[in-house]
Amino acid sequence: MSLRILVTGGAGYIGAHTVRLLLEQGHDVTVVDNLSKGYRHNVPAGRLDVLDLADTGALAQLMREKRPEAVIHFAGFIAVGESMREPERYFANNVGGSLSLLTAMVQASVKHVVFSSTAAVYGNPHTNPILETFPIQPVSPYGESKVMVETLLGWFDQIHQLTSVSLRYFNASGADPAGQLGEEHEPETHLLPLLLRAVITGSPITVFGDDYDTPDGTCIRDYIHVNDLAQAHILAVEYLLGGGATDRFNVGTGTGHTVMEMIRVVEEVTGKKVPYVTGPRREGDPLSLVAAAGKLRTKLGWRPQYTDLRTIVEHAWNFAKTRPIESLP
Ligand code: UFG
Repeated sequence: MSLRILVTGGAGYIGAHTVRLLLEQGHDVTVVDNLSKGYRHNVPAGRLDVLDLADTGALAQLMREKRPEAVIHFAGFIAVGESMREPERYFANNVGGSLSLLTAMVQASVKHVVFSSTAAVYGNPHTNPILETFPIQPVSPYGESKVMVETLLGWFDQIHQLTSVSLRYFNASGADPAGQLGEEHEPETHLLPLLLRAVITGSPITVFGDDYDTPDGTCIRDYIHVNDLAQAHILAVEYLLGGGATDRFNVGTGTGHTVMEMIRVVEEVTGKKVPYVTGPRREGDPLSLVAAAGKLRTKLGWRPQYTDLRTIVEHAWNFAKTRPIESLP
């Protein structure tokens, strides 16, 4: 069945991969993005409306025209460190923008939304793997902004019968296997693209801390392929359209890898040494974040395709090596 889907933030990394998958699966997609972080070249021609989420009236008007069956809401700021310096921007953009979007959805009678949430809602979990029922205790305005939107979504369900799925992402990584889309944040803060840049430019990356209580002293994360993450959004839309109730799901593989493991795999895949230095811990980094991902599998039938770290790195490398070196900082 072909669906009409409105995607906010569809010019960004995860949004663009999801748009591509939706189109491949025969759905009709409208992208809303203000291009403050995303890139026009990530969106197929004719699909992009350059619009800010703060413009409730324009969003409602667009939804009345396009009549989407559901919205997938990616648009938002994502940098934890930046949110510690500029919390007001994070609350205004992430919470204010989401509230405006939900208001427009009510005005246009659009009843379902899939929301980009994050593992950061759990803060520093007492143990791993992390279940959805673990305490919600974010340690950054970024994480808090996502918690606040999850809370809004609960109220919009209760009062306006607007149902939602919040997907709490672990570490989105990798790239479209065809090599046309990939991760392009500016500034880049994420481990894998920075490792690949280090290989390309020869400038060393800093490993943030090697004295954690882990097998090699570096932090453990659950790296999930961006296409598997994208597929979770499509399953979530189908679940909501099938009458599924508002819910929250982790999206991760259930397997953790250390920073040093990632460096080894990058070296294997690229055939080059990763130049790195070891520095102090980065403030706010939890020792380990690994998803218990059973709920998504059981309730939505999610089956990740690319669980091998090597495949994730290969796809990211296929993309990164096509970028002109002069475009790298
Ligand atoms: N790391 C380094 N050096 C770097 C960059 C990262 O050693 O230059 C390490 C970090 O310390 C961490 C791991 O690599 O141990 C992964 O770091 P990322 O910045 O790639 O990702 P995070 O786990 O910090 O953040 C991710 C998402 C956030 C989300 C968070 C949940 O990118 O959006 O998970 O806690 F909020």
